[in-house]
Amino acid sequence: MINKAFTNKKVFIKTFGCQMNVRDSEVICGLLKKAGYQICDSDKEADVVIFNTCSVRQHAEDRVWSLIGSYKGSKIIGLVGCMAQNHKQQAFCRDPSISFVVGPQDIDKIPHILLRLSRNKGQPLKSGDSPLFQSKIWETDGQVRPEEIYHTGFLQDKEHAYVVISEGCSNFCSYCVVPYVRGPLRHRKLKDILREVQDALAGGVTKVTLLGQNVNAYCDDGVNFAKLLEKVNGLAGLQSFDFFTSHPKDTSLELFKAIGGLDKLTKTLHLPVQSGSDRILKLMNRGYSVKDYLVLIDSYRKIVKGGILTSDIIVGFPTETDEEFEQSCGLLKKAGFNAAYIFKYSPRPNTQAAGLSDSLTMEEKEGRHKKILDLQRGISNKLKG
Ligand code: SAH
Ligand code: SF4
Ligand code: F3S
Repeated sequence: MINKAFTNKKVFIKTFGCQMNVRDSEVICGLLKKAGYQICDSDKEADVVIFNTCSVRQHAEDRVWSLIGSYKGSKIIGLVGCMAQNHKQQAFCRDPSISFVVGPQDIDKIPHILLRLSRNKGQPLKSGDSPLFQSKIWETDGQVRPEEIYHTGFLQDKEHAYVVISEGCSNFCSYCVVPYVRGPLRHRKLKDILREVQDALAGGVTKVTLLGQNVNAYCDDGVNFAKLLEKVNGLAGLQSFDFFTSHPKDTSLELFKAIGGLDKLTKTLHLPVQSGSDRILKLMNRGYSVKDYLVLIDSYRKIVKGGILTSDIIVGFPTETDEEFEQSCGLLKKAGFNAAYIFKYSPRPNTQAAGLSDSLTMEEKEGRHKKILDLQRGISNKLKG
């Protein structure tokens, strides 16, 4: 339904975080365009500024708080995504210039929220226990996303489409906020995924990235991830596709055979290892040992000849000793990743690891971070030849 009074309103969306968020921002743009809003490229001309945010590390949140703090004046500010879910109504206390807060499971409600804000300007919308809340709207209780949100037909890129295959995560790695802000793992139906890919191909797209926090756990009605890859590979008009992210504990030889054998699938695998110490991996609740991981990547290399392999590492996890850090360095040398993303441990609210004392100083974490980054840079450069 198009509200004429608001049709000319311009919305700018600033996106932080992972590819799931990039896709979510696209979904929000599609919904808003359908409802008659204009999407603009700069916050300067916008009436509404939406921050689609990430909570994975404190630094990611700090950037958003400081950016929102710099907005003064008449713009409607929306806090959306993982930070919205993490802070809920508390976000209004932290920065009263925020008008609405919407968690990742509620993004379908954004057009209606903007309509309500335009209709009720200056009037109480939802009574809370403080006057501050009376002009605010928050939606953070959603459990499922309506399937239609993925089918507005709006894509940012003419040639490439991101396609979500599963939402949320139920792995509860002890350091990670994702299961708390994105909810439990839910698989989209195979037929819906294929319809979305086919529609994108019909619109001229030739490249696709399948997305999820743990894509290789995918399962719908007996179709596992390797079978899904096979079905996507068979779609006419598709030139190439890739996927992420995979979890080592759900990675199988069947998957490697699919990567090696399917002609349109890019020969790459992002397989986060997180640490080179068995004790830390156990504390992280990752469900595999260093040896399991090395055996796995050895099979990958044998099956996917010349395949690219990348990973993630966290340094400075609570109680990580110098020796355990050195084990992570040793793992990088053994694994020979083409690239590895290295993160300093950041305590996140609600997580299991937040209950452990964040035992390393920032200086120690920074020292380890720099050392292992330099090491990986050398490895990556050598592999580039
Ligand atoms: N689902 C993906 C990763 C999502 S988050 C997976 O399991 O691989 C991306 C990366 O951020 C993680 O792989 C991890 O290395 C890092 N990360 C997550 N929580 C973190 C935290 N609290 N502190 C530092 N890095 C973190
Ligand atoms: Fe977080 Fe672990 Fe889930 Fe990845 S698999 S999103 S690191 S809980
Ligand atoms: Fe960040 Fe949320 Fe993605 S916490 S990494 S934007 S799922």
